[in-house]
Parts: sequence; structure tokens; C-alpha cells
Amino acid sequence: MLVAHISDSHVAEYGKKAYGLAPTSEYFEKCIKHMNSFEPKIDLVLITGDICGNPTPGESRRAADILSTLKIPYYTVPGNHDTRDDLLKYLPKSCPTELDGFIQYTVEDYDLRVIALDSVTEGMPGGTLCKKRLDWLDAKLAEQPQRPTMLMLHHPPIKYGVHETDTDGFIGSEEFGDVVEKYSNITRVLCGHVHMSCHAGWRNTVISTTAAIGMQLVLDLTLKKDSAFSIQPPSYQLHYHNADGEIISNVIPVRGLDTPGPFMFEEYLKVESK
Ligand SMILES: [Fe+2]
Ligand SMILES: [Fe+2]
Repeated sequence: MLVAHISDSHVAEYGKKAYGLAPTSEYFEKCIKHMNSFEPKIDLVLITGDICGNPTPGESRRAADILSTLKIPYYTVPGNHDTRDDLLKYLPKSCPTELDGFIQYTVEDYDLRVIALDSVTEGMPGGTLCKKRLDWLDAKLAEQPQRPTMLMLHHPPIKYGVHETDTDGFIGSEEFGDVVEKYSNITRVLCGHVHMSCHAGWRNTVISTTAAIGMQLVLDLTLKKDSAFSIQPPSYQLHYHNADGEIISNVIPVRGLDTPGPFMFEEYLKVESK
């Protein structure tokens, strides 16, 4: 089974760029085209929030237009740049919420089970998982404690060494970890928000963040400077669930922008030996 993980597309309205600079919507279209044509076929796409940039209905409409070209089943959770109302209005099939007031649900149709969590407090940049959301998670995990399961949410519950997102914080991260630690079947905790592709061991599982679609945060571990971003071609993470039940996670760059290749080794070994 192949699961693609994308995040933080920060779609701008038609005719606009994110922060007036980043062609995030165009990169999002290219990323979707790339996933559509990937061989073998990707089974499922998980989108961990900040689909829009500001957010406005114009951005949500454009995001829905772009996502209508995705030929693979996909699911979303909100980020701090989205609103729940717009997500439910413009992308309702992608977030079949089961918890009143929050976009939380499970996906049961695949070998891997997915549990989607809503870490947003609207109007605040940081993450939150309150008792209501965590109790729901605990109950869902208790239903099928043996089945390989991925969690998806926008905010990672740890500090990544990024001044801006570390400062945003995560209310309930300890309690979240206490729930996660009770179960041994959580193969990944997929997150966005930090605009970087990273893996971190946490509470007997792995937190995996994927890069943003167009605007990557610049890593500055001095934690002293205001955060900066750079415009880079998009990428996505591809989680390969193999026949032995292991998960291998790859970063897939979207070719055809300013990244040359692929080059066939055979051809270039011949060039080298000349
Ligand atoms: Fe973001
Ligand atoms: Fe975010």
C-alpha cells in the first residue's frame, strides 16, 4: 500500500501568490499531477492542513478546484490557516467528521487504518488537543489496538527547532503523548505546520512532518532569529507499507520544475568510463 502525505499548500486566491511571492497554487497543481501519474498507483493521499493561506472563501474555492484534479482518494484535517467551516463547505468528502465541533474521523477502507485529529483552535497559531478530542482518540484506538494505524493532524506535538512554530506551542502535548504511548500499533504520526520534512522518535512511534508545497521554513537552530522561508519546488512523502508490515518513508521531489533528472545510471556510467 502507498500513502502520500502532503501539507501546507497555502493556496492563494486566483491571480495571487502566497505573501505576494510564492507560487504555491501552481506548485500544488504540479504536485497533484505528479502524484496522479506515480507508478505504481498511490492508494491514498493524506493532507495535514494549512491548505489555504489566510483563509478566505476565494482561497478555499481555488483549493477545491485544484483538489478536484486529484484522482486518488484523499483526506484532510484543518491547519491554523484554514477554517473548519470552509473545509466542511468546500471539501466535505475529504473530512467526514465524527466528533461534534471538531474535524476528527477514522478511515477504515485500507490495510492501514487512519485516525484524523483536529489540533486547531481557530484564531491561534499553535496546536491544541483538549480532553474531548483526546478521549475520542483513546476510544478509537481502543477499538482496534492491533491494527497498524497512522494518526494525522496539523501540529506536531514537539519542538522542532524552528523559532516561529516552537513559539506557537501545543496545548495538551503531554496528554496526547500519554494516550499514544498506551498503544503499540501507531506506525506514524503525520503532521505539517513546520514546513520541513523531518522524522522524530516520540512516545514509541515516529512523528513525520512533510515539507510545504512551496514555502519551506529555513532551519535556524539558534532559535534567536525571526523565521524565514524560501521558495522551493514541492515534494511529498510517500509511505510504502510493504508485505512484511514495515513502513518505508521516502521524500519524493516533484520533478520538472528546476530539479534536473532523473538520469539513468547505466548511461552515465558509460560517460564516466570514457
Ligand atoms: Fe503552514
Ligand atoms: Fe500551520
